[in-house]
Amino acid sequence: MPGRFVSFEGGEGAGKSTQIERAAEWLRSRSVTVNVTREPGGTPRAERLRALLLERGDEPMPQSCELLLMFAARATHLANRIRPALARGEWVLCDRYTDATYAYQGGGRGLPAAQIDALVGIVHAGDWPDRTLLLDLPVEQGLARASRRNGVDGPDRFETEERAFFERVRRAYLARATAEPGRFRIIAADRSLDEVAADVRAALEPLLEGAP
Ligand code: TYD
Repeated sequence: MPGRFVSFEGGEGAGKSTQIERAAEWLRSRSVTVNVTREPGGTPRAERLRALLLERGDEPMPQSCELLLMFAARATHLANRIRPALARGEWVLCDRYTDATYAYQGGGRGLPAAQIDALVGIVHAGDWPDRTLLLDLPVEQGLARASRRNGVDGPDRFETEERAFFERVRRAYLARATAEPGRFRIIAADRSLDEVAADVRAALEPLLEGAP
């Protein structure tokens, strides 16, 4: 049985981490070896790049710097974790991947898609998830959930953006999902954890049965 690559996407407070944990538990109960990871991050070097990307501070981060660091983290994550895990036949459950770059740096920041396309070409032309689950919910609700979760560290560099930014992120995600219905499943995340988890399982079940 080949490995499977599944990414989870959504705006702030969509409940991705909880749903990934629940999906991982369910897959393990079905005898699947699961590798749960996240972006930016997932390897020691990529986690250091993540810290650079999320930290707030006095030095403004140019959009090009943000974009390049995202792909730098992704390059080492793919080479040192995702591809080896898939080659071993594992299921990789990834909290965000390149669709997040199109949504946040493209939709949110307004960078031209062509710039992102160029970096995709350099870093991972062919490595796309088998399935991408978009946990979608109204921005207002997501931000309310996310702010309840902010601990002593306060919001990270993205969480300080204004609401209009997250509206653009949501629209960009939905546009990508609509354009690629074969890979994406849109799951309404403004429901109970159990209801969302049931839809996540339903979206993954065909992959367990060998569907492309
Ligand atoms: P994440 O850990 O999913 O944060 P949260 O759990 O708060 O949603 O992602 C960290 C931040 O990085 C998130 O605000 C989105 C941002 N991000 C991008 O802007 N571009 C990307 O390509 C990725 C992977 C993440």
